[in-house]
Amino acid sequence: MKTIKKIISVCFIILFFSTCSKEQKQENKIDSYENKIDNLIAKMTLQEKVGQMNLYNGFWDATGPVPEDGNAKTKYEHLRKGWVGAMLNVRGVDKTRSLQKIAVEETRLGIPLLFGFDVIHGFKTLSPIPIAESASWDLEAIKKSARVGATEAAAAGINWTFAPMIDISRDPRWGRVMEGGGEDPYLGSKIAEARVKGFQGDNLADVNTIAACAKHFAGYGFSEAGKEYNTVDISTNTLYNTVLPPFKAAKEAGVRTFMNGFNDLNGIPASTNNFLQRDILKGEWEFDGFVVSDWASINEAIFWGQAKDKKEAAYLASTAGSDMDMEGYVYVNELVKLVNEKKVDITTINDAVRRILRVKFELGLFEDPYKYCDEEREKNEIGNKAHQEAVLDMAKKSVVLLKNEKQLLPLKKEGQKIALIGPLADDDNSPLGSWRLASDDHTAISILEGMKAYKGNTLKYEKGVDFYIGKTAFVDEVKVNTTNKEGMKQAIQAAKNADVVVMVLGEHGFQSGEGRSRTNLDLPGLQQELLEAVYKVNPNIVLVLKAGRPLTINWAKENIPTILMGWQLGTQTGNAIAQVLYGDYNPSGKLPMTFPRNVGQIPIYYNYKSTGRGSNRENNVFWSHYSDVENTPLYPFGYGLSYTKFEYKNLQLEKATYSLNETIKVSVDITNTGNYDGKEVIQLYIRDKVGSTTRPVKELKGFKLVPLKKSETKTITFQLAKAELGFYNNQGKFIIEEGDFEIFVGGDSNANLKSNFELK
Ligand code: NOJ
Repeated sequence: MKTIKKIISVCFIILFFSTCSKEQKQENKIDSYENKIDNLIAKMTLQEKVGQMNLYNGFWDATGPVPEDGNAKTKYEHLRKGWVGAMLNVRGVDKTRSLQKIAVEETRLGIPLLFGFDVIHGFKTLSPIPIAESASWDLEAIKKSARVGATEAAAAGINWTFAPMIDISRDPRWGRVMEGGGEDPYLGSKIAEARVKGFQGDNLADVNTIAACAKHFAGYGFSEAGKEYNTVDISTNTLYNTVLPPFKAAKEAGVRTFMNGFNDLNGIPASTNNFLQRDILKGEWEFDGFVVSDWASINEAIFWGQAKDKKEAAYLASTAGSDMDMEGYVYVNELVKLVNEKKVDITTINDAVRRILRVKFELGLFEDPYKYCDEEREKNEIGNKAHQEAVLDMAKKSVVLLKNEKQLLPLKKEGQKIALIGPLADDDNSPLGSWRLASDDHTAISILEGMKAYKGNTLKYEKGVDFYIGKTAFVDEVKVNTTNKEGMKQAIQAAKNADVVVMVLGEHGFQSGEGRSRTNLDLPGLQQELLEAVYKVNPNIVLVLKAGRPLTINWAKENIPTILMGWQLGTQTGNAIAQVLYGDYNPSGKLPMTFPRNVGQIPIYYNYKSTGRGSNRENNVFWSHYSDVENTPLYPFGYGLSYTKFEYKNLQLEKATYSLNETIKVSVDITNTGNYDGKEVIQLYIRDKVGSTTRPVKELKGFKLVPLKKSETKTITFQLAKAELGFYNNQGKFIIEEGDFEIFVGGDSNANLKSNFELK
């Protein structure tokens, strides 16, 4: 016994010292970066410093309007003079190497470039769109998906991604909800952390890790009326409790860059917003990475009517803490003058440059500027088998089963006549979504292709109606067919002859994303008509819904027995959907965003305030409601079914009263009572009954994804500590207040297994 103890203590000492020295090494490294940065800054001319703050788009792809100043000749000239700190949309080792060579070998100081790229849901091998991934509530899988994207991007010469997008939004009209984690700050924060860690890995200096960028700081998801690039006017309460938490989580997870946005926030554009960037981000949160503007967003202070010209825009943005100007030409052209005229202090410039150089050091670019330029790695990593498997796994985890009334799913594997109908069924393009710059068009596995792998049934495919007319270039708008009904007859015939009809309907991948807001969230074009026509001849329909946002599918919910939310699932879409349809994968996804009944209900979200008249207490008209539609959503946040069934019981707390410093332990029993093995996302919500500011009716404060075999029961525990029990007051201060709380546990935000406790 004694010897064991001795061995343990020796091990402990060794471990202690080895950790110490690791930490020590890290500190020494940081110190030496800071010294090196000091030395470098001391050598730089003002124009070279401003150059580090300048980010140019490459010469091949554009992800925004191309500005007049943006010609290749000027860019090359500026590169050679050392007036460029970073490039975006340059991909492929041959291209990044050639530009890095100019920066390192032809400029006076040889400072390496950053290469930024929108790795939104993968690079070439595409994962599901982010809102779909978020529906998995599987943080490990989400992290892994970001890792895959980072690995491919890094192999193509990229060292910086403009992701994750962590804007909370309650408005499905806004096209960019496809790019985020949904409506909830708690889930959104966990996802932000997972994505940052996935991109950045354990060590930014590794060859397959890249710097992440938390965007868009802040409030963009609250664009008025869901209209893209619109004004944002929100309260301190919403800002602190809903918008900022995912950004804070990203900062705490070590994200190295932030991007501001195209919106204003309560009257000040995000890019020139001192309060957001200086007071909160760099002040209170002590963020020591750098802030990049969005595409020419600094210039947009002019269009917002806040700056009279580019010079004033440059002045406002730099003093407000925007460190780098993306494709805006205002810093490179105006900042030197502004410093010489003593309008912008040189310390502001030095601080921005220091932050940018710091990230370059951390990435290891000064040690080896070509570390991301390895043709061999590029060949082996991009699109490899392991990545295909990872995105397939992620795609299956992202599917949400919304309805399965007649148990049409899982499909029987033999002896069935299946009709596959719909404009998105034989579609190998739209599942790639609208962020797919490095991926080739038409490289997704279509659902038709995926279903063909199951050979025991007969499969008849009919498009029904055409859906998408037009080219699929990145910037294309989708034109929807509203007149051509040519294929309708054949589809109806196929349905008549089938045992089960699988219909694939919804939005095209280019109908959501940046610049793609919509006011009507019904099935676009002739798809509703097709659905109803098929239903008339064969009601045994499995509807696979494809979209980048919640849709208003009231008729389908009412009439169609089985509905599967299939989003845009990326490269492996067809295989994922087929495996779910045939029960080789039991779905466990849960909605990260509320589905409204109609657009008039928007914004609609689960953690609303009860209001003074939130229920019809006196049975009259004077309460908070609509006279033409009920208050409840079509599908609530957190909702999703499985092929099996789960039963919750025995919600327990150890005590009825806790002190403010205690951690509250909650336990619940869950049993798989159905006929399949499955997984359930167990969700815990609280309600703070009385607060010094009005409180939401429910707030998600914990979730666990738990596998359960048929008939298995597990006891699951949650812990609630200060972070979960407090909130931000209207001065932006985090507080915890005494009083009564309710706890709800269940499989969605309507969870009604309830208990309570008092904080004293
Ligand atoms: C504009 C988008 O808002 C931003 O998210 C993106 O990173 C940049 N364009 C660069 O493509």
